Amino acid sequence: MSDFKPPLPLRAETPSGWAAAALADPEALLSDHAHNEKKAALNALNLSLSFSDAPRGSVLLARLAEEELNHYRRVLEALQGFGWTLRPDRGNAYAKALHKQASKGLLDRLLIAALIEARSCERLWMLERAEASHAALGSAGWLAFLLELERCEAGHALGYRSLAEERFRTEATSRLDWWLDREAEVIQSLPWRSAVH
Ligand SMILES: [Fe+2]
Ligand SMILES: [Fe+2]
Repeated sequence: MSDFKPPLPLRAETPSGWAAAALADPEALLSDHAHNEKKAALNALNLSLSFSDAPRGSVLLARLAEEELNHYRRVLEALQGFGWTLRPDRGNAYAKALHKQASKGLLDRLLIAALIEARSCERLWMLERAEASHAALGSAGWLAFLLELERCEAGHALGYRSLAEERFRTEATSRLDWWLDREAEVIQSLPWRSAVH
């Protein structure tokens, strides 16, 4: 993991055995990821309502929502391509545990979104390496898609952090420091499953 630089300074590195555990059921992994991409698109659209007075913010969030919707469609197409079906949404205990600790409205919503993107980025990076040797998911096209996702989610993490800093200034910096500890606690407390988190 040493050559990976997450877009935010995450404080708990995912153990190297995680990717193999996540790949135990690739159909479940991809299904869960499809649901997450859809939720990310909806979240960006919802957050854009808070930036109607800030053109840079509303454009950034509209573009972000568009990218997540594009990811959603392409993960659905990947499921179809592998001959798999979209399984029911099992929910995301990681995101729920973060939101449960939120108390500062828009600032926390932006910082949680930034953290989720940064953690996704780290884990997509790990999957990309593990999947190179995976029977079903080792194709060049699929790996290129994962790399594209990883880079895109890194940009989203930085975008959300910049929106928080522009709107909330120094409060955003100290709150992010607080959230980095909470995120590390949450990610380490959850059992591994066939999902990005
Ligand atoms: Fe995405
Ligand atoms: Fe994203």
